Amino acid sequence: MRGYMHKMDLLEEARAVLAKNDMGEGWTRPTSISLYPHQWLWDSFFIAIGLRHYDVKRAMAEVRSPFRAQWKNGMVPHIIFSDAKGYHAGPERWKSSKTSLNAPRDIETTGITQPPMAAEATLRIGELLTPRERRKWYREMYPKILAWHEWFYRERDPDGDGLVVVVHSWETGMDNTPPWMEIVHKYAMPFWARLAAAAGLDKVLERFRKDTAAVPADERISTVDLHAVYSHIRSLRRLKYDSVAIMAKHRLQIDSLIINCILMRANKHLAAIAAELGEELPDIIQCAMERAPQALESLWDEETGQYYPRNHVTGELVKVSSVATFLSLYAQKLPKERVKALLKHLHNPETFGAEYPIPSAPLNSPYFKPHCYWQGPTWVNTNWMVADGLERNGQKREAHLLRQKTLGMVAKGGMYEYFSPTDGSPAGAPSFSWTAALTIDLLHSHSL
Ligand code: SER
Repeated sequence: MRGYMHKMDLLEEARAVLAKNDMGEGWTRPTSISLYPHQWLWDSFFIAIGLRHYDVKRAMAEVRSPFRAQWKNGMVPHIIFSDAKGYHAGPERWKSSKTSLNAPRDIETTGITQPPMAAEATLRIGELLTPRERRKWYREMYPKILAWHEWFYRERDPDGDGLVVVVHSWETGMDNTPPWMEIVHKYAMPFWARLAAAAGLDKVLERFRKDTAAVPADERISTVDLHAVYSHIRSLRRLKYDSVAIMAKHRLQIDSLIINCILMRANKHLAAIAAELGEELPDIIQCAMERAPQALESLWDEETGQYYPRNHVTGELVKVSSVATFLSLYAQKLPKERVKALLKHLHNPETFGAEYPIPSAPLNSPYFKPHCYWQGPTWVNTNWMVADGLERNGQKREAHLLRQKTLGMVAKGGMYEYFSPTDGSPAGAPSFSWTAALTIDLLHSHSL
């Protein structure tokens, strides 16, 4: 591992990563290696948050670009496919343009979405514009983002309780996060994958994986779990990505803590944008916003003092802990006793109080592996959101410390996808765009 770098060196390195990953058409790939050769949705919004500090026009293009593939029903897809070949879950698995009348005809995408960070990126870019430019910018983005948020509540909130349902773990952006895998293992594992797991066939199946050519298998989702995840794509495709059919027949329906926290916050940003434009938010969004505090509260577990996702099919909280519990701070201003309880977890050396916080799964979780994707490693984007949430919940010093530790980790380990929470060693993809972009944002926006 390298030594600590000077702030200017770090900035320069981060900008070089974004320049290398810029595809020259207004979007940036997540990494320079073959692992992610297409455009990922929430990546683009984090990337724009960094880009805005030195090229605001380019940042605007990055925010705009995912909407070129917005579906007719308002959904914005989680991947827009480029011409690159060899991705393990490419257009041939999704067949969106041939399967759904809502999908665009001239561009291939997946049939699911990802956390809605667009309003955050739009607003942060807006902060840097003159009032006239800002209104023009908001006027352009507002209807597109609004259509996406309306889609969430129209198609994914079957009970109208203000919590939207997520139907694929990739929609959360935290693919193999422990609570999801718990549900998958219990309710959504195809019988052949169970057999393969029982017979220890992981290694045989591993030979057919494309993603592990780029990154070691033990830093990714397990092979059997990945095949289960592919089977969930097949289920959605057979249901033609139609929400009514999905709600009636798809086994995986989760009131996701991740998506709901981010959407709650995004609604507030959207309200700020609407206010500046003199627009009134439609009832469906206003209702959801009114219900948000109570909706989030329904995911609280008093016994363990934290938030969890809920299995929408069984109605049970999935009491398996992950970093998502702290995204509640990003969602909204929480009651003081909730903040206190969350801080206790954040500082507990047996769970989240790691040397390089915040681990994506608690250190004492049966799932925990320091280098395995969303089952242990520390990620810069979750730290960025939690730090913001801590600050908004009156915890300025905690936010400052978390940002400092995040930058220290990147300075020591490099612009990697994720880091071991125990020794800070980097893992996953190198030259990772959102690590670079959010490093730039932390260096510019805060005196660290
Ligand atoms: N991160 C997933 C992958 O493995 C998809 O979003 O490619």
